[in-house]
Amino acid sequence: MQIIAKNLSFTYGKQTKAVSVKALNNVNLTIEEGDFFGIIGHTGSGKSTFVQHLNGLIRVNGKEGELRVGEFDLADKKCDLKTLRSKVGMVFQYPEYQLFAETVFEDVAFGLKSFNKDISQSEIELRVAEAITTVGLNYQRIKDKSPFELSGGQKRRVAIAGVIVSRPEVLVLDEPAAGLDPVGKREFLNLLKRLHSSFVKTIIIVSHDMNIISEYCNKVAVFNRGEIALVGTPQEVFADQNKIKELGLEFPLTARLKLALKNKGVEVGGDLTVEGFVTALSKLKEEGKL
Ligand SMILES: Nc1ncnc2c1ncn2[C@@H]1O[C@H](COP(=O)(O)OP(=O)(O)OP(=O)(O)O)[C@@H](O)[C@H]1O
Ligand SMILES: [Mg+2]
Repeated sequence: MQIIAKNLSFTYGKQTKAVSVKALNNVNLTIEEGDFFGIIGHTGSGKSTFVQHLNGLIRVNGKEGELRVGEFDLADKKCDLKTLRSKVGMVFQYPEYQLFAETVFEDVAFGLKSFNKDISQSEIELRVAEAITTVGLNYQRIKDKSPFELSGGQKRRVAIAGVIVSRPEVLVLDEPAAGLDPVGKREFLNLLKRLHSSFVKTIIIVSHDMNIISEYCNKVAVFNRGEIALVGTPQEVFADQNKIKELGLEFPLTARLKLALKNKGVEVGGDLTVEGFVTALSKLKEEGKL
């Protein structure tokens, strides 16, 4: 499913007559099917507001632009949100706080049952086992446990299983790695990478961690005061040093190393992944330029 936002704007507090805050201002953005798409920007720039539009948690006001997610027209009041939500899975920051059922099985099965009222028990078991195994947990060992007796990392995996169990085409994660230790973070991102090549077609992540963005995303959009300030590959986005600084963002480690080497007269090509950086560096060595 391709995602297209055209002149999308959103203001909080319009209905309630509270002090209104313009959180999105004429956002134009296309996310292609198959993208591992990063959304970055300083705090309060509109990232969460934007992604909450993608499964209709925040509705588009018809006069405030357009949003299409595959065949779904989000500005249409009659848009079938239930079907949309089975296709666009949303994982919030600290998803483990959303766990509630008595067992891991029931927790993961919940979304599936609510999306498909007629689904058989055997199909539920099959799908729940598949989702739990996909997130790297042992189904037999964990299915009857209480979600509350699991570790933080395990809880987060169970929460993701509860979203991917309905086999969404698009998975949206708002700050998915927050609060995990470095090893947990890496494992979690590798899980997302696996999901992207097997289960889910498109992944959209909101993150403040530029190393994650440069390592995993093929495309990035930078939000600033509700607008899109930059969009492109990580390499393109982080090439504009002054702009990145002006937007209050950090550079990924690989970009910093490239810059430091450039200041010493060594131009390193390649992309901003660690692998890309190392390959470009060894090529320079082979060519005797290092
Ligand atoms: N429920 C709300 N009611 C009123 N204003 C809100 C609400 N949620 C967000 N805002 C405001 O809208 C703007 C955009 O907020 P948003 O949560 O989308 O930012 P963000 O980029 O996700 O920030 P962060 O990186 O801190 O998560 C901010 O000015 C914020 O204060
Ligand atoms: Mg946010």
